[in-house]
Amino acid sequence: MSRKFFVGGNWKMNGDKKSLGELIQTMNGAKVDPNVDVVCGAPAIYLDFARSHLDAKFGVAAQNCYKVPKGAFTGEISPAMIKDCGVNWVILGHSERRHVFGESDELIGQKTAHALESGLGVIACIGEKLDEREGGITEKVVFAQTKVIADNVKDWSKVVLAYEPVWAIGTGKTATPQQAQEVHDKLRGWLKANVSEAVANSVRIIYGGSVTGGTCKELASQKDVDGFLVGGASLKPEFVEIINAKM
Ligand code: 13P
Repeated sequence: MSRKFFVGGNWKMNGDKKSLGELIQTMNGAKVDPNVDVVCGAPAIYLDFARSHLDAKFGVAAQNCYKVPKGAFTGEISPAMIKDCGVNWVILGHSERRHVFGESDELIGQKTAHALESGLGVIACIGEKLDEREGGITEKVVFAQTKVIADNVKDWSKVVLAYEPVWAIGTGKTATPQQAQEVHDKLRGWLKANVSEAVANSVRIIYGGSVTGGTCKELASQKDVDGFLVGGASLKPEFVEIINAKM
């Protein structure tokens, strides 16, 4: 089964109209592999800006959303608002949401259900912390996180699973291609046992954590690595190299 390569950029809380505008111009003018789904995760306040300036062949994602359509939730944004800006994706469960902002598995599950019901695609993030890897419980942690997401998904065609080991995020310590492949393979096994073989074979499982132009090709050559979620390097022209990792 061939899965279309998927490369997400997560701009996090970086950039301004000037620098993001320059990045967008670089992307719009670049030669990119047409066999890759590319989605840029913009800060909420720049979703409209990103969507109106990025070429239509690139998707845009919000970096978070709340679990209900509207109401008295100061500071939050809803999937309905994201869609109103012409944006079709949302990143949920990112480790910074989990560990800096204290989001629980339960809340991430509720957000996933509501975003999908609202018609957004979801890039659902999971990943173990360093002490969990060193304690030998990587699988237990990522399976538990995946279960909460899976319990809230009806249509897996709208979900991309992002494995982002927390120790590799923003640290310059990329997981080795073997480490990434091992976890991706186990996740596919979990999906096969707990969801279905068809879902296990079709869901894109992407890797995130210090991916660069230098590390992307070998990672992309792994059987179960179906793309990337890129932080720091997604703000640089180097992002184009990562999109083209399979070319
Ligand atoms: P870095 O690529 O900066 O390590 O960030 C990864 C990430 O968190 C993407 O969501």
